[in-house]
Amino acid sequence: MKKSVTDTYTLYNGVNIPCLGYGTWQTPADVASSCVCYALQQGYRHIDTASAYGNEFSVGEGIRASGVQRDQIFLTTKHWISHRGYDKTIEHCEDSLRALGTDYIDLYLIHWPAVAKIADNWEELNAETWRGFEKLYKDGKIRAIGVSNFLPSHLEALKKTAEILPMVNQIEFHPGYTQNEVVDYCKANNILVEAWSPLGCGRLLANPVIDEIARWHDCSPAQLCIRYALEKGLLPLPKSVTPPRIVENMRVFGFSLRPEDIETIDAMEETGFSGFYPEDAPADAL
Ligand code: A2P
Repeated sequence: MKKSVTDTYTLYNGVNIPCLGYGTWQTPADVASSCVCYALQQGYRHIDTASAYGNEFSVGEGIRASGVQRDQIFLTTKHWISHRGYDKTIEHCEDSLRALGTDYIDLYLIHWPAVAKIADNWEELNAETWRGFEKLYKDGKIRAIGVSNFLPSHLEALKKTAEILPMVNQIEFHPGYTQNEVVDYCKANNILVEAWSPLGCGRLLANPVIDEIARWHDCSPAQLCIRYALEKGLLPLPKSVTPPRIVENMRVFGFSLRPEDIETIDAMEETGFSGFYPEDAPADAL
């Protein structure tokens, strides 16, 4: 089991990735810089952003302001749906590199799959985008490549043409929405699963089941949710813009869940789901 925020998972290509990341979805650009700087100074070494979050420039500023060397930081960003296809993908990645002010990205993800609902040629769209990812990877601009919000059907389709298989799938995962089928598929295929919204966007924090178990461990509901993701072998990416919470969310290595806690949380009925289901083709506003 992981012992600290800098302990790592190893991707199948040998790249190490710190086991808990600092998420920046819904972090406004005007505060992202100071939040990222603070998170790094407190000890986080893994920052997750996306082109669609509109805060890449500010995240890059925060990294530089932190004084932590770039090569000590694992930086993820994501490709947006408006740039599908080989050429557009290459250009889009260059835009992210410029915005972030860095010459490489540690992990680049396809943010959402193209799906049958939006395009008959969805498989080809994903395959061409992925070809762009493979080129960027081979050129050394990206240390690892992966996807986000892909269901097994999307991964199976991608496999048909991929030369390099995805190393990561970042999905919504939290108590009450554990996507077991996706997680099991990924584990069986050497794909590390990252958990976005491990606190269910905050919706889990007043849940009585979570509250009761958290009280037993003398931890906060947020810490319990983060610990749960880690104990399931996932990589949680909690987001907070509030300094004491940023620190609280890292302090999840001093306790372990009992088997009965895991069983209880595993058995929770669906709760806190964001409503973003891949097959429903997400809206442009993320
Ligand atoms: P804020 O950013 O204002 O601190 P998720 O990571 O699941 O998307 O959840 C993010 C939401 O949970 C945000 O609204 C964030 O608020 C809130 N949050 C993050 N960490 C904590 C915490 N330790 N205690 C309470 N709320 C938290």
